[in-house]
Amino acid sequence: MAEWRAEVAEGLSGRVIEIGFGSGLNVAHYPSTVDVILAVEPSEVARQLARRRVATSSVPVEHVGLDGQSVPLEDASCDAALSTFTLCTVPDARRALSELRRIVRPGGAFHFLEHGLADDPGVARWQRRFDPLQCRLAGGCHLTRDIRALVSEAGFDIDRVDQRYAKGPRPWSWFTTGVAINPA
Ligand SMILES: C[S@@+](CC[C@H](N)C(=O)[O-])C[C@H]1O[C@@H](n2cnc3c(N)ncnc32)[C@H](O)[C@@H]1O
Repeated sequence: MAEWRAEVAEGLSGRVIEIGFGSGLNVAHYPSTVDVILAVEPSEVARQLARRRVATSSVPVEHVGLDGQSVPLEDASCDAALSTFTLCTVPDARRALSELRRIVRPGGAFHFLEHGLADDPGVARWQRRFDPLQCRLAGGCHLTRDIRALVSEAGFDIDRVDQRYAKGPRPWSWFTTGVAINPA
């Protein structure tokens, strides 16, 4: 995943909010143009696992909230946002995206790398079948979220997007990565 993470972090700058910060696997990939990472993460276990990465990060990390659907940050207070493999798990992805639109300044960028609903109807059929079990076994993670549609329906302008299979079983490996701009 390191290559995908490095690619999605490219071009981030200034104050960046990251929702679903997890164990901090993206920290090593932030470019030096980033001033601060504002981490949102509900899991105490994940925050503990992130401690060493946060301590050795060249970019300062501040933990600013517990829920990407409701973040205690001012409107237009960030230059950019990052989400990797989080829109599958946040209970209401639309609410989380609407929070990001509120927090990222007009003209700021949302960088995303997510797995989700595949274009291929055969794979999508399997994803719908597996989804209830996946959700139960994988902490609320869904296989059936259409990431590209969710990002654009939230009002972001998609600047670039790439969708392809990563290595692994297809229902879990249809990845969408890209950059979307918060319009003025
Ligand atoms: C599959 S993990 C991905 C972690 C990390 N982003 C990565 O790429 O390794 C999903 C993350 O979303 C977090 N999460 C779940 N609900 C959330 C919410 N409401 N707001 C923000 N993050 C949430 C989980 O705690 C978990 O860390």
